[in-house]
Amino acid sequence: MPVPLHVTRKGPNTVEPVLLLHGFPFHQAMWQAATDHLVAANHHVILADLRGFGQSPPGEGPSTMEEMAADLLQLLDDLKLRRVKLGGFSMGGYVALEFIRRHPERVGSLFLCSTRAEPETTEGREGRKKLIAATRKNGIEPVVEAMMPKMLTKTSTAKDPALARRVENLMRQAKPEATIQALEGMMTRPDQRPHLKKIQVPTLVVVGAEDPITPPTASLEMVQHIPGSQIRIVTGAAHMVPLEAPQPLHHFLDHWVAGKLEAPGLSGLRERA
Ligand code: MLT
Repeated sequence: MPVPLHVTRKGPNTVEPVLLLHGFPFHQAMWQAATDHLVAANHHVILADLRGFGQSPPGEGPSTMEEMAADLLQLLDDLKLRRVKLGGFSMGGYVALEFIRRHPERVGSLFLCSTRAEPETTEGREGRKKLIAATRKNGIEPVVEAMMPKMLTKTSTAKDPALARRVENLMRQAKPEATIQALEGMMTRPDQRPHLKKIQVPTLVVVGAEDPITPPTASLEMVQHIPGSQIRIVTGAAHMVPLEAPQPLHHFLDHWVAGKLEAPGLSGLRERA
């Protein structure tokens, strides 16, 4: 059963807005800086809280990528949007990949940030199970502890403690039950690799060079299979590119939204945070 997602719409109404999906265990506020940037350039941006996060109600049972993609379809139908420019960060990217596989006609272009197409490994599944048990017992704190060292580079954390606190505070707003449901859903996420070659819209892939959760190798694999896709690897950034490296990210987003994904030479692939 689809869940009615809480959304925020900003900027002038256009027929093909930018729709951004947050990662785990965040909510739409993680896109605040990117949204301000895009809206200042007169773009129409929609932010959605995935089920159970932010102000969206939870679903029943595991928050699978399939169910979250169904929530998204319901949202587009409710908003009477035929197509969107769809962007997803990490778990939001898993949802975006599932959505475009099911409903390619509803996506005008795709932006995949710090994400991957492969399913969970056995080791990853074991890690999720432990985290679920710990969250049941102690709430969100074990998730914050497990994820924080992977969100930002050591350098960023040392140089900008306020940024680290901001990331932590965003995570602490997640409800334990929704967190468990999302962990269960990510554990069984489908393998999107066989479907990548069918993506026919302009696609931008962005990843931090030091991302330990969704490493650049996973992004490189996606661009090898998505026809005509482009990759930008941000040096000096780990997983949380939208907060750790807003400037290069916003620059890439400008090109993506404008439909100007010119192929750089290999030397043009890397941008410094
Ligand atoms: C996220 O940022 O959404 C998560 O790190 C994704 C994951 O744990 O696989």
